[in-house]
Parts: sequence; structure tokens; C-alpha cells
Amino acid sequence: PNDALVLFMPSGRRGRFPLGTPVLDAARSLGVYIESVCGGRGICGRCQIQVAEGQFPKHGITSSAGHLSDFSETEARYVAKRGALEPERRLSCQALILGDLVVDVPQDVQINRQLVRKRAETRAIERDPATRLCYVEVDEPDMEKPLGDTDRLLAALARDWRLERPQIDFDLIPRVQEVLRAGDWNVTAAVHDDGAGPEVVALWPGLHNMACGLAVDIGSTTIACHLSSMLSGRILASAGAPNPQIRFGEDLMSRVSYVMMNPDGREALTRAVREAIGVLVDKVAREAGIAADDIVEAVFVGNPIMHHLFLGIDPTELGGAPFALAVSAALHFRAREIGLAVNPGARVYTLPCIAGHVGADAAAATLAEGPQKGDEITLLVDVGTNAEIVLGSRERLVAASSPTGPAFEGAEISCGQRAAPGAIERVRIDPATLEPKVKVIGDDLWSDDPDFGRVVQDLGVTGVCGSGIIEAIGEMFLAGIVDEDGVIDGALAARSDRIVPHGRTFAYVLWRADPARGTPELRILQTDVRAVQLAKAALYAGVRLLMDRLGIDSVDRIKLAGAFGNYIDPKYAMLIGLVPDCAIEKVAGVGNAAGTGARMALLNRGHRREIEALVRRIEKVETALEPRFQEHFVAAMAFPNKVHAFPNLA
Ligand code: FES
Repeated sequence: PNDALVLFMPSGRRGRFPLGTPVLDAARSLGVYIESVCGGRGICGRCQIQVAEGQFPKHGITSSAGHLSDFSETEARYVAKRGALEPERRLSCQALILGDLVVDVPQDVQINRQLVRKRAETRAIERDPATRLCYVEVDEPDMEKPLGDTDRLLAALARDWRLERPQIDFDLIPRVQEVLRAGDWNVTAAVHDDGAGPEVVALWPGLHNMACGLAVDIGSTTIACHLSSMLSGRILASAGAPNPQIRFGEDLMSRVSYVMMNPDGREALTRAVREAIGVLVDKVAREAGIAADDIVEAVFVGNPIMHHLFLGIDPTELGGAPFALAVSAALHFRAREIGLAVNPGARVYTLPCIAGHVGADAAAATLAEGPQKGDEITLLVDVGTNAEIVLGSRERLVAASSPTGPAFEGAEISCGQRAAPGAIERVRIDPATLEPKVKVIGDDLWSDDPDFGRVVQDLGVTGVCGSGIIEAIGEMFLAGIVDEDGVIDGALAARSDRIVPHGRTFAYVLWRADPARGTPELRILQTDVRAVQLAKAALYAGVRLLMDRLGIDSVDRIKLAGAFGNYIDPKYAMLIGLVPDCAIEKVAGVGNAAGTGARMALLNRGHRREIEALVRRIEKVETALEPRFQEHFVAAMAFPNKVHAFPNLA
């Protein structure tokens, strides 16, 4: 035969190709993404592949490195100039198909030595980035054909990269001549195309083999920033920092009030968050050993108020019904328009907001967790000071938010604190003796271990974090210390000195003061139990409204997103009725789903179209306007619930 079967892994795409076809071309025609900066000239080394040797009976292929053409002169030159290829690797733009092949597309093509650093890799994201690097050799000027340098650059890009009518960022034009000459007419252009046609957004002399992108999740408490290579998709560095807007107001509404009360309030909040992001960008760039100029794209997500303040939009309208967003659609703009210290031409993309209180972060989490992809009814909850809730399946998706307040983040709880080393995160209470044992963040020992003194010495026992509060109250309920209505039973004081009077109510002593080691006493007060009841009832009522909307009485799967969602033990979440009844093994924390969704949008423009289309069809439910909210809320104040059954708890 004069053609051969080629199967690409891990995508599994396959096709037949005439012998002599470069592997890169075969991959392209199948839509398999292989990076290429030099456009097949054999100089960038980005297009590496590896041949899997052996018989693949399932696919009817015998694959061997011998089914590729020999090392070309260009490859030999690449190796001589840029260092050896890893064993068995080839440049797919040079290696020609000579027989059946199973081709592995490695996820980890490393060009810059300093980047070869292992880090916990999160999920692999199929790539189709909006911004790509394109190396071109531009024709030198010719007096006979007086075409401008920029025009010849664009013509070369159109010719070599088959770009249709490429444009160039106006601000780059004054630099084109200098860069072309510095690179001796060879330059690398970062070309952005997210549907509106290709545009050169950055330019470097010669072959430039580095392009990075940022994915930033602006939480009201924490800002998380990931730097990824746009060429390999890998995370090169991550950093997080508290959102400095906290000093203007702990929760979202108090920040909105700050803006309303202070003439320069909006500017101050915008400046604070942008500055904090600037510090994080600097940090990740430094850690990855790249220049800020190498960052050519950024994606931001956040709840509507964070989103608006970051963009410099007054969020006042979001403070009351009808909760009008200034803009809900996805946005495209340039980094320099918001003063982001990356490549000035870098493009910024923000995901669409779902509704007045359900933001781009919930959209990103939905993109990452894909409740719309299955037949199961999935409940996706991002538990923050404002819980964002998405519920549904392939058929229908509904979304709402619920004002849970900061109790789950450890605020408004007398002994509460943010999740940090030394905070109690796990609690067990012996129902016979009412004696507790605890575990703190930063160590695996329980407090009944004889060596726990060392933990107290090293970390202290400083307070109780959100997941610790949930467990403490869940265990108090199991041990009968609090009843169904959340009342601490003072009669137990006769049985245990852990129950103590506190004002006109009672409290439970979770941790006794240790003056020798300077740790304070930590009590769960009646008011703390109340605060958790209010927060969990708000969340549950929001979920229940969405269930009403879908006309369902149970959910098949529950995904808890966000830091709190990730650490909370699903059993206790259900025990106190924070989430509806569900098979316990189907309830799980899914980590920073919003951050993952932001990375997906960064690395694949197809994901952007996917979430834009999805957000248009998500049905929004405004909890504040639903008459049944109050009814659900009241029933949900009880542990686990006054009205709804929890058969899975039995
Ligand atoms: Fe650049 Fe193959 S595409 S080396």
C-alpha cells in the first residue's frame, strides 16, 4: 500500500496518510494539537513526538520507529545546536510516515532547562490556545517593491502560517522595524485569534520559544494565580494571597456598601485587587524564571462583585434587586487597558457571569466539572461567603446563589479562624464521656496521642477553621450535646465538665487552655451553633429551590468546590443538613474547580465557546425573590432538617 494508518495517543484519533507525509501534518489534519513555533522548520523543537513500538492488535497496527524516515539533516542540526532530543523522541515536522504508527504526543516537551521542575500536575487539558507563537522569516526591504516592513511581516505570516488577513496591534507598529532588524528579518510573533481573526499581539527578534498564560481566580477572601506554559499547557508556578479588599469589608455586601458610602471607594477597591494581582504575577513569573513580557494571555474569573471591581465597574447595582450586572458576557481586552504588568499586548479574557450573584467563577467551575455532560443530576456548590449553586444534568441546568455569610470560613464564630496551621480541622466526640479529640491543620496526630504535645508545641491550637466547625457541631449533634433544633443541652453539665454555662445559654469546651504552652480555651457557644445553622439553612434552602425548579426530590451526585468544600468531610456536611441527602460515596470535594475552569479557558478557546453557550441556557433562580425560600430556610434550621428526610444517613 502507498498509505499507512497512524493512531495518535492519548487522543485516540487516527487516519490513513500517504507515505512520506510529515507526522505533524497528519496530526494537524486530524485536529491533534502538536505545538509548533517555527512552522515546521525544525528549529523550535516544540513538535516532539515518540513512537510506541509493538503490536496493537486492538487497532490492527504494528508500530515501529522504523516506520519513520531516518533522522533528517535538520534534526541533526537541531540536536547539534539545541542539545539532544530525549531518547526515542523525534521532531514531528521532520519525521515522515513510512508505515503504520502509534504516535505518543508527550505532554512535557521541555525546552528551557530551568523549567524542568516537577510539580503536582492537575488535570491535563486538551489544547487549542487562542494565542500561539509563529516564527517567520520576513522578506528584506526592496526599493522596487516599496511595501512597509509591517506589511511584509503580515504577508509572511499569512503565507507561512496560512493566516487569513492577519492584523497587528496598533501599539506594536512603532516597534516592528527595530525588532525585524534585531532578528535579522527572523521574528517570532504571538498571534491571537479568538474568533475575530488573527492579530499580532507581541513580537520578538529571532526564535522565541516561550509564551505563558495566567489563570486567576479572584475570590472575595483569596486570590489564586496559576502560570501555565501556553506551549506545553503545564503549570509552571502557582501563588495565592489574601484579597486585600478585606480591609474595606469582610464580606461582599460590606464592600458594596463601602463603594456606596465613599466617593473614591470603587477606585480604592479596584486598585487594591489589581495591585495584589500584580504582586502575584511578579511572584509566579519569578518562580518560573520567565520575563513578564513572556506572558501573552490571561483569564480571570470571580463572583460578580469581584469581577466588576476588578474591571473597574461600580458594583452598586448588584447590592439590591434586580441585581443588574453591568455586563454579563465574556469580555476580551488588552492587558495594558487594566495596567496588568505583563506583555502590554497580552489579551485578557473574562468568563461570562451567570446571574447577578452567580459569577464567572461559577461558570468556570461548571466548565471544569461538566454537570451538563451527564445524565446524573449533579449538584455543584462553591461554598464561600456567598454560595454559588448549579444543579442539573444534560437536560437542564439551573443556578442560584445563597447568602451563607462568612461562618464557613471561620468568621462570625467565636473560636473561628481561617484555615491555617494550628487550626482545628477534625473533631470526634465520645458519646459516652462527651470527651473530644481533635486534629489540627499541619499534622496528622489526633489529640489523644501521647505525642500530641509536640504538635501543640510546634503549631499551637489556635482556633477552629470552617471544616472543623462543621465537624464539631456534627459530632455534638451525634453525641446529643445539641438537639435537633441546635440547642446545647445544659442538663449535661451535671455529667460532664465540658458543658459549661455561658451567659443565659451553655457552651461546649472543645479545647482546654494550656497556659504552659500558651494555647487558649476554645468553646463552641450557642451563638456559634446558631451562626452555622443560619449559614447551612441558607445554602440548603437555595439548593432546595433549584430542586423545586427542576421538580426533583433527590440528587445523584454532589460536588463541593472551593477550599472549604474540599476539606469538609461529606459525611458531616450531610449530617448537619448543609447539602441534601445523597449516597455518601457520591459526595466529594472537587478542589478549586473555578481555577481549573479558568485554566481550561486559557488553554483552549473551544472551552470558551462551550461555557459562553452554556451560560446562555442556564436558568437563573433569584433566591431573594422566591416565596418558598423562607419556608425551606426555616425547615433547614434543624439538624439535619425538619421536613426533608436523609435516608442515606441511616
Ligand atoms: Fe519547530 Fe518542528 S515545528 S521543530
